[in-house]
Amino acid sequence: MYDSKIDSSEINCIVMMKAITRKTYGGPNVLTLQSVPKPVPKANELLVRVRYTTVNRTDCGILTGKPFLIRFFTGLPKPSSPIPGTDFSGEVVGVGEKVKRFSVGDRVWGLNDEGLASHAEFMVIKETKAVDLIPEGVSYDQAVACAEGGHYAYNFINKVALSKGDKVLVNGATGAIGSAALQILKSRGVFVTAVGNTKNMTLLKKLGADKVYNYEKEDFTELDELQYNCVFDAVGKSSFKKCKRLLLPKGIYISSELGPNAENLYLPILTYIKGGKRVIFPIPKNCKESIEYLNNLLEAKKYVPVIDRNYAPEEIKSAYEYVQSAQKTGNVLIDFTASES
Ligand SMILES: NC(=O)c1ccc[n+]([C@@H]2O[C@H](COP(=O)([O-])OP(=O)(O)OC[C@H]3O[C@@H](n4cnc5c(N)ncnc54)[C@H](OP(=O)(O)O)[C@@H]3O)[C@@H](O)[C@H]2O)c1
Repeated sequence: MYDSKIDSSEINCIVMMKAITRKTYGGPNVLTLQSVPKPVPKANELLVRVRYTTVNRTDCGILTGKPFLIRFFTGLPKPSSPIPGTDFSGEVVGVGEKVKRFSVGDRVWGLNDEGLASHAEFMVIKETKAVDLIPEGVSYDQAVACAEGGHYAYNFINKVALSKGDKVLVNGATGAIGSAALQILKSRGVFVTAVGNTKNMTLLKKLGADKVYNYEKEDFTELDELQYNCVFDAVGKSSFKKCKRLLLPKGIYISSELGPNAENLYLPILTYIKGGKRVIFPIPKNCKESIEYLNNLLEAKKYVPVIDRNYAPEEIKSAYEYVQSAQKTGNVLIDFTASES
C-alpha cells in the first residue's frame, strides 16, 4: 500500500487511494477500507501522504456521533466526511499555488479535532490550519502521537493558573491526555502525583511523576498527606465531591468527562458563585496554538508521547474496539507504512 520509493511526479499520476470510510454513525463495524479518489489540493492547501494517524477518543466520539451534540460539528443526520481521522504525520507531496509555508518533501504533522479525513493514504489541509513541520530528530510516529492527547492536556492545564512548585494530581495519567498532562506539567516545574494501575507504575515514574498511586491498591481520594492546587481527572472516573478534600482552599478540580449526571457542566457555575474550591470544565479550542506549543516541547525533548500499539489500516475495526475499551496506555496508531509493497 505504501511505497516510499514512489517520487512526487509518480504521485501526481495516482488517482485512487486506500481510505477508511463509513456512511453512517455507528460502531467499528460501519468502517471499511476502500479505494476512493485521491484528494486534489486547492490553491491554499497541502497534499500530504499520510504515514501515521491515530485512533483516539475523539475519533470514537465522531464515529458513533455520541454525545449527540458532536453531530452539530461533524454532520447531521450523517457524517459530513465519510473518511474519519483527526490527526496525521506524513510528507508533503503537493502544494497549491498560493502555499508559502510548506514545500514538497517537508515532514509535517497536525490535528483538527472536528475531523480531518486523515484515515487515508492521502489528505489535504489548508496551510493556515494546525499543521507544522516535524522537528529534526523526531520520528513520524512520535509526532502523530502527541497531537490529540497533547492538545487537550495543554488546553485543560491552561485553564488553571499554576506556578513552579505547585502540586497537581493527575488521575488517569496513563491515558493519551493524562500522559501528556503529566509531561506538560513537569516541563512547567509543577510537582505531579500520577494515578495509574500496577503495570504502569514504572512508566509513570519514567514520565517524570514525583509521586505515584496505584488505583488497584489504594484510593487516592482517601489520602491525607498532600493538599493540591489542582486535581485533574483525565479519565473521568472520580468526581469533585470525592476529590474536594484533597484540594487547597482555592484549589481547582478539572475533569475531561462530564461526570455523574453531567455535573461538571453546572458545578463550575455553582462553585464559582460559592467561592473557594472550584470546578472548571474546559472546552478545548485552537488546535493551531496547541500544535505550535507541542512542537516546541517535542523539539526540546520535554514531551515524549507514549505509544501503546500500532495497527495496519486493514485492522481498523480492532483498533477502534481497543480504544473504545478505555484501557489503552497513551496512544494507538494506524500505520499506513505497514503494508509497504
Ligand atoms: N472533554 C474533551 O474534550 C475530551 C476529548 C477527548 C477525550 N476526552 C475524554 O477524556 C478521557 C481520557 O481520554 P484519553 O484519550 O486520555 O483516554 P485513554 O487513553 O483511554 O485513557 C484512560 C486511561 O486511564 C486508565 N484508567 C482506567 N481506569 C482508571 C481508573 N479507575 N483510575 C485511573 N486510571 C484509570 C486507563 O488505563 P488502565 O485501564 O490500564 O488503568 C487508560 O490508560 C476519556 O474519558 C475521553 O472520553 C474528553
